[in-house]
Amino acid sequence: MPRLLVVHHSPTDTVRALTDAVVAGAHDDAIEGVEVVVRPALEAGAADVLGADGYLLGTTANFGYMSGALKHFFDTIFLEAGGALSDDGSAAGGRQGRKPYGLWVHGRYDTTGAVRSVQSIVGALPWVPAAVVLEVLGDVTEEHRAAAYELGGTLAALLTS
Ligand SMILES: Cc1cc2nc3c(=O)[nH]c(=O)nc-3n(C[C@H](O)[C@H](O)[C@H](O)COP(=O)(O)O)c2cc1C
Repeated sequence: MPRLLVVHHSPTDTVRALTDAVVAGAHDDAIEGVEVVVRPALEAGAADVLGADGYLLGTTANFGYMSGALKHFFDTIFLEAGGALSDDGSAAGGRQGRKPYGLWVHGRYDTTGAVRSVQSIVGALPWVPAAVVLEVLGDVTEEHRAAAYELGGTLAALLTS
């Protein structure tokens, strides 16, 4: 059965509301035959990544970057997951991606740097963006929850085809 891995850092109720909506969307009744595995970013490992067919990543924006927890996840799994490094140690771009991924980022004032930081690393993994990045600022509204639900459903549905 195809497996969708959800890796998230959800330190507050606000962010947890988004994460819960993403996971609920991935479990939508209309989607059958996809296993959804949910892991806090500090607990996810390379085996989780290698065993999955698609990915959903969730993080807060911190200091204009992704959370330290999601960065720790990438530091841990990057090479085993097929990532390539440049000579200067940065993530080397241009990998041919096949496994779909989606991303949501929550912040209070600007998530641009956090999104870019994830994309710069994931661009060197054999993954391909499969949905528009969901960026949420401030309090989570019903619209945000609906968008998060749709993001989860989109990635799960992709794995059924
Ligand atoms: C140390 C720190 C750095 C942060 N940096 C950013 C940032 O660069 N951009 C942003 O939009 N929000 C930033 N925030 C806000 C967090 O993203 C936000 O607190 C987190 O998503 C949880 O949301 P909540 O506080 O509404 O529950 C920062 C928060 C902290 C504590």
